[in-house]
Amino acid sequence: MATNRTFTMIKPDGVESKNIGNILQMITDAGFSIKAMKLTKLSVEQAKVFYAVHKERPFYMELVDYMVSGPIVAAILEKDNAVADFRTLIGATDPAEAEKGTIRAKYAESKAKNAVHGSDSDENAMIEGEFHFSKEELVG
Ligand code: PPS
Repeated sequence: MATNRTFTMIKPDGVESKNIGNILQMITDAGFSIKAMKLTKLSVEQAKVFYAVHKERPFYMELVDYMVSGPIVAAILEKDNAVADFRTLIGATDPAEAEKGTIRAKYAESKAKNAVHGSDSDENAMIEGEFHFSKEELVG
């Protein structure tokens, strides 16, 4: 995956609260184009692998259990400076600390139920995108 791409998931709370449309609107309004997207449900095994980087953290199993609790939307997004610009658009992990107008300030509930995931580096964007999508599922 090219470095002008990032990977996102709308988390179970964002789907459950019927904010898929609102969140995607904010993403496209901010200039991102969607290169791949699917509604899916992670297995425990998939969530453990996806979040393996956090496996030593006290909330690891809470995070895994939460991410398998309902459907998610996974997507690969494209824009110049995608990783950093997307992290700005979504705001801080904790919605109480997220800037006004960010996706998490608008739609997140807590550090766990924080509406969206965004990759934290170009390298992880590529790994995470390839975790969820085959080359054939990418457009353009
Ligand atoms: S960050 O962005 O990596 O600095 O954020 P961090 O605080 O390290 O959190 C990493 C991911 O873990 C989730 N998280 C939690 N999940 C469940 N329970 C608790 N208590 C909790 N605290 C943090 C947080 O939403 C981050 O998920 P992702 O999907 O990476 O944004």
